[in-house]
Amino acid sequence: MIFADPPFNIGKEYNNGQSDLLEQDHYLDWCRLWITESVRILKPGGAIFIYHLPRWAYHLAAYLGEQEMDFRHWIAVSMKGTFPRGKKPYPAHYALIYFTKGAPKTFNRVRLPIPTCRHCGKDIKDYGGHRKYLNPAGLNLTDFWEDTSPARHRKEKSRWHINELKPMIPERCVEISTNPGDIILDPFGGGGSTYVTAERLHRFWIGTEIGPCEPIVERFKRDFHDQTRFKSIPEELHRIRSPSLCEISIAG
Ligand SMILES: C[S@@+](CC[C@H](N)C(=O)[O-])C[C@H]1O[C@@H](n2cnc3c(N)ncnc32)[C@H](O)[C@@H]1O
Repeated sequence: MIFADPPFNIGKEYNNGQSDLLEQDHYLDWCRLWITESVRILKPGGAIFIYHLPRWAYHLAAYLGEQEMDFRHWIAVSMKGTFPRGKKPYPAHYALIYFTKGAPKTFNRVRLPIPTCRHCGKDIKDYGGHRKYLNPAGLNLTDFWEDTSPARHRKEKSRWHINELKPMIPERCVEISTNPGDIILDPFGGGGSTYVTAERLHRFWIGTEIGPCEPIVERFKRDFHDQTRFKSIPEELHRIRSPSLCEISIAG
């Protein structure tokens, strides 16, 4: 599986010596390059998720279609705290495009806890007398994700100018399209959200990041300081545990 959260080409400072404000054609050519390579290395049945602004995502989705990838979904990930610009509707979602190389090898149904009020603990929605028929394992994940606000600003986030995702976003993609022991590539490491998710869920992971990798290293030290947690995983998975930080490399 490949999860890609590329620079959005909106002039953000990533502290990596690269411009995040290219001419449209130049930017799209660059995207086509890494998409072509991603498609090449993906195994049959593998999935690719690309997180982007709808403005760019529709170009990338069309290109994936031209690469004979199978369209699975356009997931809307709710965007908060934005402002309307120009003669356009108020932007309220990011696009998470989801394609597979042929029929998906894995599709796991992800379930979410039934939403309750954080003050009174009661259900937020009225299920019209059908509450008792809901699956106790939770509600089916839909193509509209509204519980994924951006990652909180931590000290290191502002220091390194990383545009970090809430890990729930790569986490759901990992859960939907892979099983323990599968391999995940994220070509745009940033703060390492995909890598920590993969590690936690016992998948292999490979990453590249053109800017500083220290935030990823620090995050791993922080999140995985207690290695004893691995004692709880089944014996057969010890063998295939992610090789961790040795997989971080600098991409050109
Ligand atoms: C939007 S951020 C990714 C954030 C990441 N998903 C997270 O949650 O931590 C995009 C990252 O891509 C990196 N990047 C840009 N061009 C790159 C390239 N050619 N190779 C590898 N990384 C690149 C940037 O330095 C930046 O850290």
